[in-house]
Amino acid sequence: AKKCVLTGRWMNELGSNMTILAVNGKGEFSGFYHTAVTATMNEIQVSPLQGSQHRTNQKSQPTFGFTVNWSFSDSVTVFTGQCFVDDEGNEVLKTMWLLRSQVDDIKNDWKATRVGTNVFIRLHSQQE
Ligand code: BTN
Repeated sequence: AKKCVLTGRWMNELGSNMTILAVNGKGEFSGFYHTAVTATMNEIQVSPLQGSQHRTNQKSQPTFGFTVNWSFSDSVTVFTGQCFVDDEGNEVLKTMWLLRSQVDDIKNDWKATRVGTNVFIRLHSQQE
């Protein structure tokens, strides 16, 4: 069976793009996230991500998680998901996320976390 590999460029249904760099021997990886949307009024900037993949090279459809530390807001998003190969042989990342926004008062804690799903497909480069 074809293996699902996290390394590379991905786009989700919102039009957000991310680049995942090499996954090391411990399953750790870093990369960059360019979101298409924001919950803030701030100008969007590319932000760093850090994550880990479960048991390197063992499973062909690995689970993973990563954190995006937004460089243009005081928020953090965590994503968790699984890398699948669909019936057509295309890799797809099925994820869920939690976006934590900063609030100034503990009384506003109840409304500080958003939840959702994102599906990512691989962006292929010219060379391939
Ligand atoms: C912020 O608004 O404070 C930072 C940007 C948050 C973007 C969110 S993260 C979950 C969802 N998926 C995306 O690709 N973008 C939004």
